[in-house]
Amino acid sequence: MYSFSNRISALQPSAIREILKATSQPGMIPFAAGNPAPEAFPTQAVREISARLLAERPVDVLQYGVTEGYGPLRERVKAYMKDGFACGGPDDDLIVTSGAQQVVDLAAKVLCNEGDAVIAETPSFIGSLNTFRSYGLRLRGMPMQADGPDVAALERLLREEKNVRLIYVIPNYQNPAGTLMSLEKRREIYALARRFGVMILEDNPYGDLRYEGEALPSIKSMDTDGLVIYAGSFSKILAPGIRVGFALAPQPVIAKMTVGKQASDVHTPMFSQLLVDEWMANYDVAGHIKTIRAIYRRKCAVMCEGLAKAGEGRGLSFVRPRGGIFLWCALPAEIDMLEFTQTAAVNRVAVVPGAAFLVEPGERVNAVRLNFSTPTDAQLEEGLAILAEVMKKW
Ligand SMILES: Cc1ncc(COP(=O)(O)O)c(C=O)c1O
Repeated sequence: MYSFSNRISALQPSAIREILKATSQPGMIPFAAGNPAPEAFPTQAVREISARLLAERPVDVLQYGVTEGYGPLRERVKAYMKDGFACGGPDDDLIVTSGAQQVVDLAAKVLCNEGDAVIAETPSFIGSLNTFRSYGLRLRGMPMQADGPDVAALERLLREEKNVRLIYVIPNYQNPAGTLMSLEKRREIYALARRFGVMILEDNPYGDLRYEGEALPSIKSMDTDGLVIYAGSFSKILAPGIRVGFALAPQPVIAKMTVGKQASDVHTPMFSQLLVDEWMANYDVAGHIKTIRAIYRRKCAVMCEGLAKAGEGRGLSFVRPRGGIFLWCALPAEIDMLEFTQTAAVNRVAVVPGAAFLVEPGERVNAVRLNFSTPTDAQLEEGLAILAEVMKKW
Protein backbone atom coordinates (compact mmCIF):
# COMPACT_ATOMS: atom_id res chain seq x y z
CA MET A 1 0.00 0.00 0.00
CA TYR A 2 1.06 3.56 -0.50
CA SER A 3 -0.01 7.08 0.37
CA PHE A 4 1.08 10.22 -1.42
CA SER A 5 3.44 12.79 0.04
CA ASN A 6 2.13 16.06 1.43
CA ARG A 7 4.25 17.72 -1.23
CA ILE A 8 2.34 16.24 -4.16
CA SER A 9 -0.99 16.32 -2.36
CA ALA A 10 -0.66 20.13 -2.30
CA LEU A 11 -1.23 20.02 -6.07
CA GLN A 12 -4.92 19.24 -6.07
CA PRO A 13 -6.85 18.64 -9.28
CA SER A 14 -9.37 21.41 -9.74
CA ALA A 15 -12.32 22.29 -11.93
CA ILE A 16 -9.92 24.41 -13.93
CA ARG A 17 -7.52 21.55 -14.54
CA GLU A 18 -10.42 19.44 -15.77
CA ILE A 19 -11.17 22.17 -18.30
CA LEU A 20 -7.50 22.28 -19.28
CA LYS A 21 -7.62 18.53 -19.87
CA ALA A 22 -10.61 19.01 -22.19
CA THR A 23 -8.75 21.73 -24.07
CA SER A 24 -5.88 19.41 -24.91
CA GLN A 25 -8.12 17.02 -26.89
CA PRO A 26 -7.14 16.53 -30.54
CA GLY A 27 -8.93 18.76 -33.05
CA MET A 28 -9.03 21.74 -30.70
CA ILE A 29 -8.12 25.20 -31.94
CA PRO A 30 -5.16 25.91 -29.67
CA PHE A 31 -5.53 29.29 -27.96
CA ALA A 32 -4.67 27.62 -24.63
CA ALA A 33 -1.13 26.40 -25.27
CA GLY A 34 2.10 28.35 -24.99
CA ASN A 35 4.08 26.72 -27.76
CA PRO A 36 6.32 28.56 -30.19
CA ALA A 37 4.90 28.80 -33.71
CA PRO A 38 5.93 25.76 -35.79
CA GLU A 39 7.36 28.11 -38.44
CA ALA A 40 9.57 29.81 -35.81
CA PHE A 41 11.97 26.90 -35.34
CA PRO A 42 15.40 27.19 -36.99
CA THR A 43 15.00 23.63 -38.30
CA GLN A 44 17.62 23.83 -41.03
CA ALA A 45 20.26 25.00 -38.56
CA VAL A 46 19.30 22.29 -36.07
CA ARG A 47 19.48 19.64 -38.81
CA GLU A 48 22.96 20.78 -39.89
CA ILE A 49 24.34 21.10 -36.36
CA SER A 50 22.93 17.72 -35.27
CA ALA A 51 24.42 15.93 -38.28
CA ARG A 52 27.78 17.58 -37.70
CA LEU A 53 27.82 16.81 -33.98
CA LEU A 54 26.99 13.15 -34.53
CA ALA A 55 29.56 12.84 -37.33
CA GLU A 56 32.40 14.74 -35.67
CA ARG A 57 31.83 14.59 -31.91
CA PRO A 58 29.67 11.54 -31.17
CA VAL A 59 31.28 10.74 -27.83
CA ASP A 60 31.03 14.34 -26.60
CA VAL A 61 27.29 14.42 -27.16
CA LEU A 62 26.67 10.93 -25.79
CA GLN A 63 28.92 11.04 -22.73
CA TYR A 64 28.06 12.24 -19.22
CA GLY A 65 28.79 15.90 -18.57
CA VAL A 66 29.37 18.02 -15.48
CA THR A 67 26.37 19.31 -13.53
CA GLU A 68 27.21 23.03 -13.99
CA GLY A 69 26.90 22.60 -17.73
CA TYR A 70 29.11 22.35 -20.82
CA GLY A 71 32.02 24.76 -20.17
CA PRO A 72 32.13 26.58 -23.52
CA LEU A 73 28.36 27.11 -23.42
CA ARG A 74 28.51 28.51 -19.89
CA GLU A 75 31.21 30.98 -20.93
CA ARG A 76 29.34 31.91 -24.09
CA VAL A 77 26.07 32.57 -22.27
CA LYS A 78 27.85 34.54 -19.55
CA ALA A 79 29.42 36.74 -22.23
CA TYR A 80 26.08 37.05 -24.06
CA MET A 81 24.37 38.21 -20.87
CA LYS A 82 27.19 40.58 -19.93
CA ASP A 83 27.79 42.14 -23.35
CA GLY A 84 24.18 42.16 -24.51
CA PHE A 85 22.29 42.90 -21.30
CA ALA A 86 24.81 44.19 -18.72
CA CYS A 87 23.91 41.22 -16.50
CA GLY A 88 26.33 39.33 -14.29
CA GLY A 89 29.15 40.71 -12.16
CA PRO A 90 32.38 39.24 -10.77
CA ASP A 91 30.47 37.59 -7.91
CA ASP A 92 27.97 35.87 -10.20
CA ASP A 93 28.13 32.46 -11.80
CA LEU A 94 26.00 30.51 -14.27
CA ILE A 95 24.56 27.01 -14.36
CA VAL A 96 22.97 25.44 -17.44
CA THR A 97 19.59 23.97 -16.53
CA SER A 98 16.88 21.86 -18.10
CA GLY A 99 14.76 24.85 -19.05
CA ALA A 100 13.90 27.92 -16.98
CA GLN A 101 11.41 25.70 -15.18
CA GLN A 102 14.35 23.99 -13.49
CA VAL A 103 15.75 27.35 -12.36
CA VAL A 104 12.49 27.97 -10.50
CA ASP A 105 12.64 24.49 -9.03
CA LEU A 106 16.27 24.86 -7.94
CA ALA A 107 15.69 28.33 -6.49
CA ALA A 108 12.87 26.97 -4.33
CA LYS A 109 14.88 23.89 -3.44
CA VAL A 110 17.98 25.74 -2.26
CA LEU A 111 16.45 28.86 -0.65
CA CYS A 112 13.10 27.86 0.83
CA ASN A 113 11.93 25.71 3.70
CA GLU A 114 8.42 24.35 3.96
CA GLY A 115 6.10 27.07 5.26
CA ASP A 116 8.25 29.94 3.96
CA ALA A 117 6.55 32.58 1.82
CA VAL A 118 7.06 33.49 -1.83
CA ILE A 119 5.57 36.70 -3.23
CA ALA A 120 4.51 36.46 -6.87
CA GLU A 121 2.62 38.61 -9.33
CA THR A 122 -1.00 37.53 -9.48
CA PRO A 123 -1.85 36.16 -12.01
CA SER A 124 1.43 34.37 -12.72
CA PHE A 125 2.91 31.39 -14.57
CA ILE A 126 1.15 28.25 -13.37
CA GLY A 127 4.25 26.06 -13.77
CA SER A 128 6.23 28.15 -11.31
CA LEU A 129 3.31 28.49 -8.89
CA ASN A 130 2.99 24.72 -8.81
CA THR A 131 6.71 24.34 -8.19
CA PHE A 132 6.41 26.63 -5.17
CA ARG A 133 3.32 24.76 -3.98
CA SER A 134 5.09 21.43 -4.33
CA TYR A 135 7.72 22.64 -1.84
CA GLY A 136 5.00 23.53 0.68
CA LEU A 137 5.58 27.28 0.29
CA ARG A 138 2.98 29.90 1.10
CA LEU A 139 2.17 32.00 -1.94
CA ARG A 140 1.21 35.65 -1.59
CA GLY A 141 0.11 37.71 -4.57
CA MET A 142 0.85 41.25 -5.71
CA PRO A 143 -1.94 42.17 -8.14
CA MET A 144 -0.93 42.88 -11.73
CA GLN A 145 -1.47 46.34 -13.15
CA ALA A 146 -0.92 47.58 -16.70
CA ASP A 147 2.76 48.38 -16.00
CA GLY A 148 3.64 45.44 -13.76
CA PRO A 149 2.78 44.35 -10.23
CA ASP A 150 1.35 46.62 -7.55
CA VAL A 151 4.51 47.71 -5.75
CA ALA A 152 2.59 49.11 -2.76
CA ALA A 153 1.11 45.62 -2.27
CA LEU A 154 4.63 44.19 -2.40
CA GLU A 155 5.79 46.58 0.29
CA ARG A 156 2.79 45.73 2.47
CA LEU A 157 3.41 42.00 2.07
CA LEU A 158 7.08 42.40 2.89
CA ARG A 159 6.11 44.14 6.12
CA GLU A 160 3.38 41.65 7.02
CA GLU A 161 4.94 38.35 6.12
CA LYS A 162 7.59 36.54 8.07
CA ASN A 163 10.11 34.45 6.18
CA VAL A 164 9.63 35.77 2.67
CA ARG A 165 12.35 33.96 0.74
CA LEU A 166 11.68 35.02 -2.85
CA ILE A 167 9.98 37.70 -4.90
CA TYR A 168 9.08 36.01 -8.19
CA VAL A 169 8.59 38.28 -11.22
CA ILE A 170 8.32 37.96 -15.01
CA PRO A 171 9.11 41.54 -16.13
CA ASN A 172 8.90 41.02 -19.91
CA TYR A 173 5.59 40.13 -21.58
CA GLN A 174 4.36 38.34 -18.53
CA ASN A 175 2.69 34.96 -18.69
CA PRO A 176 -0.30 35.17 -18.53
CA ALA A 177 -0.98 38.94 -18.34
CA GLY A 178 1.12 39.92 -21.39
CA THR A 179 2.36 43.06 -19.59
CA LEU A 180 5.76 44.77 -19.70
CA MET A 181 6.98 45.96 -16.31
CA SER A 182 7.96 49.64 -16.32
CA LEU A 183 11.54 50.66 -15.61
CA GLU A 184 10.36 52.52 -12.53
CA LYS A 185 8.78 49.38 -11.08
CA ARG A 186 11.89 47.34 -11.83
CA ARG A 187 13.88 49.86 -9.79
CA GLU A 188 11.30 50.00 -6.99
CA ILE A 189 11.14 46.22 -6.67
CA TYR A 190 14.92 46.00 -6.51
CA ALA A 191 15.00 48.74 -3.88
CA LEU A 192 12.39 46.92 -1.78
CA ALA A 193 14.24 43.62 -2.07
CA ARG A 194 17.36 45.39 -0.86
CA ARG A 195 15.58 47.12 1.99
CA PHE A 196 13.95 43.92 3.25
CA GLY A 197 16.86 41.62 2.38
CA VAL A 198 14.86 39.30 0.10
CA MET A 199 16.06 37.58 -3.08
CA ILE A 200 14.38 38.25 -6.43
CA LEU A 201 13.78 35.47 -8.95
CA GLU A 202 13.61 37.22 -12.33
CA ASP A 203 12.16 34.88 -14.95
CA ASN A 204 12.73 36.06 -18.52
CA PRO A 205 11.76 33.56 -21.21
CA TYR A 206 10.06 36.17 -23.44
CA GLY A 207 12.42 39.17 -23.32
CA ASP A 208 13.71 38.60 -26.86
CA LEU A 209 10.19 38.45 -28.31
CA ARG A 210 9.79 42.24 -28.36
CA TYR A 211 7.84 43.66 -31.30
CA GLU A 212 7.58 47.26 -30.20
CA GLY A 213 9.57 49.82 -28.25
CA GLU A 214 13.02 49.70 -26.72
CA ALA A 215 14.28 46.90 -24.47
CA LEU A 216 14.11 47.77 -20.79
CA PRO A 217 17.01 46.84 -18.50
CA SER A 218 16.48 43.67 -16.55
CA ILE A 219 16.45 43.76 -12.76
CA LYS A 220 19.57 41.59 -12.82
CA SER A 221 21.45 44.45 -14.50
CA MET A 222 20.77 46.58 -11.37
CA ASP A 223 21.99 43.88 -9.01
CA THR A 224 24.83 45.55 -7.10
CA ASP A 225 24.04 43.57 -3.95
CA GLY A 226 23.83 39.98 -5.19
CA LEU A 227 20.06 39.69 -4.71
CA VAL A 228 18.86 38.53 -8.12
CA ILE A 229 18.59 35.04 -9.57
CA TYR A 230 18.02 35.45 -13.30
CA ALA A 231 16.30 32.60 -15.16
CA GLY A 232 16.99 32.48 -18.90
CA SER A 233 15.72 30.04 -21.52
CA PHE A 234 16.33 28.93 -25.08
CA SER A 235 12.79 27.55 -25.28
CA LYS A 236 11.20 30.53 -27.00
CA ILE A 237 14.07 31.57 -29.29
CA LEU A 238 15.37 28.13 -30.31
CA ALA A 239 13.18 25.22 -29.20
CA PRO A 240 11.47 24.15 -25.96
CA GLY A 241 11.94 20.44 -26.70
CA ILE A 242 15.70 20.62 -26.24
CA ARG A 243 15.19 21.78 -22.61
CA VAL A 244 18.03 24.28 -22.22
CA GLY A 245 17.85 27.22 -19.84
CA PHE A 246 20.21 28.79 -17.34
CA ALA A 247 20.48 30.56 -14.01
CA LEU A 248 22.74 33.57 -13.56
CA ALA A 249 23.06 34.24 -9.85
CA PRO A 250 25.50 34.89 -6.99
CA GLN A 251 28.20 32.23 -6.95
CA PRO A 252 27.17 30.62 -3.61
CA VAL A 253 23.59 30.21 -4.92
CA ILE A 254 24.86 28.57 -8.11
CA ALA A 255 27.06 26.26 -6.03
CA LYS A 256 24.02 25.06 -4.04
CA MET A 257 21.91 24.81 -7.18
CA THR A 258 24.61 22.55 -8.63
CA VAL A 259 24.27 20.20 -5.66
CA GLY A 260 20.49 20.31 -6.03
CA LYS A 261 20.61 19.59 -9.76
CA GLN A 262 23.06 16.75 -9.27
CA ALA A 263 20.44 15.08 -7.11
CA SER A 264 17.71 15.60 -9.67
CA ASP A 265 18.85 15.08 -13.28
CA VAL A 266 22.68 15.08 -12.97
CA HIS A 267 23.08 17.43 -15.93
CA THR A 268 21.19 18.83 -18.90
CA PRO A 269 21.62 16.54 -21.95
CA MET A 270 24.97 17.12 -23.65
CA PHE A 271 23.42 16.89 -27.10
CA SER A 272 21.14 19.82 -26.31
CA GLN A 273 23.93 21.87 -24.76
CA LEU A 274 26.34 21.37 -27.66
CA LEU A 275 23.54 22.14 -30.08
CA VAL A 276 22.90 25.49 -28.40
CA ASP A 277 26.62 26.23 -28.20
CA GLU A 278 27.15 25.57 -31.90
CA TRP A 279 24.05 27.57 -32.81
CA MET A 280 25.23 30.58 -30.82
CA ALA A 281 28.79 30.29 -32.18
CA ASN A 282 28.10 29.73 -35.87
CA TYR A 283 24.62 30.93 -36.77
CA ASP A 284 22.92 34.28 -37.03
CA VAL A 285 21.03 34.24 -33.73
CA ALA A 286 20.21 37.96 -33.88
CA GLY A 287 18.83 37.49 -37.41
CA HIS A 288 16.74 34.54 -36.27
CA ILE A 289 15.31 36.55 -33.37
CA LYS A 290 14.41 39.31 -35.81
CA THR A 291 12.61 36.77 -38.01
CA ILE A 292 10.58 35.27 -35.17
CA ARG A 293 9.72 38.71 -33.78
CA ALA A 294 8.15 39.49 -37.15
CA ILE A 295 6.16 36.22 -37.06
CA TYR A 296 4.80 36.95 -33.58
CA ARG A 297 4.17 40.64 -34.27
CA ARG A 298 1.99 39.63 -37.19
CA LYS A 299 0.15 36.84 -35.36
CA CYS A 300 -0.48 39.18 -32.45
CA ALA A 301 -1.96 41.76 -34.83
CA VAL A 302 -4.22 39.11 -36.40
CA MET A 303 -5.48 38.08 -32.97
CA CYS A 304 -5.96 41.64 -31.69
CA GLU A 305 -7.86 42.71 -34.77
CA GLY A 306 -9.98 39.56 -34.78
CA LEU A 307 -10.70 39.87 -31.10
CA ALA A 308 -11.63 43.54 -31.35
CA LYS A 309 -14.10 42.56 -34.07
CA ALA A 310 -15.40 39.48 -32.23
CA GLY A 311 -15.91 41.44 -29.03
CA GLU A 312 -17.31 44.59 -30.61
CA GLY A 313 -20.16 45.94 -28.49
CA ARG A 314 -19.78 43.11 -26.00
CA GLY A 315 -17.49 44.81 -23.50
CA LEU A 316 -14.40 42.64 -23.96
CA SER A 317 -11.23 44.44 -23.01
CA PHE A 318 -7.58 43.67 -23.57
CA VAL A 319 -4.27 45.49 -23.76
CA ARG A 320 -2.44 44.93 -27.03
CA PRO A 321 0.77 43.06 -26.12
CA ARG A 322 4.09 44.65 -27.15
CA GLY A 323 5.88 41.32 -27.12
CA GLY A 324 5.59 37.70 -26.07
CA ILE A 325 2.92 35.20 -27.01
CA PHE A 326 -0.03 35.81 -24.68
CA LEU A 327 -2.98 38.12 -24.53
CA TRP A 328 -5.06 38.60 -21.38
CA CYS A 329 -8.68 39.29 -22.17
CA ALA A 330 -11.02 40.62 -19.48
CA LEU A 331 -14.61 39.48 -19.89
CA PRO A 332 -17.58 41.71 -19.11
CA ALA A 333 -19.26 40.91 -15.78
CA GLU A 334 -22.24 39.15 -17.35
CA ILE A 335 -20.04 36.50 -18.99
CA ASP A 336 -19.12 33.71 -16.59
CA MET A 337 -15.49 32.77 -17.16
CA LEU A 338 -15.78 29.04 -16.46
CA GLU A 339 -18.95 28.65 -18.50
CA PHE A 340 -17.39 30.67 -21.32
CA THR A 341 -14.29 28.46 -21.30
CA GLN A 342 -16.35 25.28 -21.20
CA THR A 343 -18.66 26.42 -24.00
CA ALA A 344 -15.65 27.43 -26.09
CA ALA A 345 -14.12 23.97 -25.51
CA VAL A 346 -17.33 22.21 -26.55
CA ASN A 347 -17.12 24.30 -29.72
CA ARG A 348 -13.49 23.22 -30.27
CA VAL A 349 -11.70 26.34 -29.08
CA ALA A 350 -9.29 25.94 -26.19
CA VAL A 351 -8.75 28.97 -23.95
CA VAL A 352 -7.48 29.02 -20.36
CA PRO A 353 -9.65 30.53 -17.61
CA GLY A 354 -7.72 33.35 -15.94
CA ALA A 355 -8.40 31.88 -12.49
CA ALA A 356 -5.91 29.09 -13.25
CA PHE A 357 -3.10 31.62 -12.80
CA LEU A 358 -4.17 33.19 -9.52
CA VAL A 359 -1.78 33.00 -6.64
CA GLU A 360 -3.87 32.93 -3.46
CA PRO A 361 -7.02 30.96 -2.64
CA GLY A 362 -10.10 33.16 -2.68
CA GLU A 363 -8.90 35.54 -5.40
CA ARG A 364 -11.32 36.10 -8.27
CA VAL A 365 -10.92 37.23 -11.84
CA ASN A 366 -13.18 37.29 -14.89
CA ALA A 367 -10.71 36.85 -17.76
CA VAL A 368 -9.17 34.33 -20.10
CA ARG A 369 -5.65 33.90 -21.44
CA LEU A 370 -5.31 33.61 -25.19
CA ASN A 371 -2.19 32.42 -26.97
CA PHE A 372 -1.54 33.54 -30.54
CA SER A 373 1.78 31.82 -31.30
CA THR A 374 0.47 28.26 -31.61
CA PRO A 375 -2.57 28.59 -33.92
CA THR A 376 -2.19 28.97 -37.67
CA ASP A 377 -3.70 32.05 -39.34
CA ALA A 378 -6.68 29.95 -40.44
CA GLN A 379 -7.15 28.67 -36.89
CA LEU A 380 -6.89 32.22 -35.52
CA GLU A 381 -9.64 33.35 -37.86
CA GLU A 382 -11.89 30.34 -37.27
CA GLY A 383 -11.30 30.30 -33.50
CA LEU A 384 -12.16 33.99 -33.09
CA ALA A 385 -15.31 33.55 -35.17
CA ILE A 386 -16.34 30.68 -32.87
CA LEU A 387 -15.62 32.78 -29.76
CA ALA A 388 -17.80 35.56 -31.18
CA GLU A 389 -20.63 33.00 -31.55
CA VAL A 390 -20.05 31.71 -28.03
CA MET A 391 -20.31 35.25 -26.66
CA LYS A 392 -23.75 35.64 -28.21
CA LYS A 393 -25.02 33.26 -25.52
CA TRP A 394 -24.75 36.16 -23.07
C1 LIG B 1 7.11 32.56 -17.38
C2 LIG B 1 7.67 31.24 -17.72
N1 LIG B 1 8.71 30.76 -17.04
C3 LIG B 1 9.27 29.59 -17.33
C4 LIG B 1 8.77 28.79 -18.33
C5 LIG B 1 9.41 27.47 -18.57
O1 LIG B 1 10.19 27.52 -19.69
P1 LIG B 1 11.29 26.44 -20.07
O2 LIG B 1 10.80 25.76 -21.29
O3 LIG B 1 12.52 27.24 -20.29
O4 LIG B 1 11.42 25.52 -18.92
C6 LIG B 1 7.69 29.24 -19.08
C7 LIG B 1 7.14 28.40 -20.15
O5 LIG B 1 6.14 28.64 -20.74
C8 LIG B 1 7.11 30.49 -18.77
O6 LIG B 1 6.06 30.98 -19.42
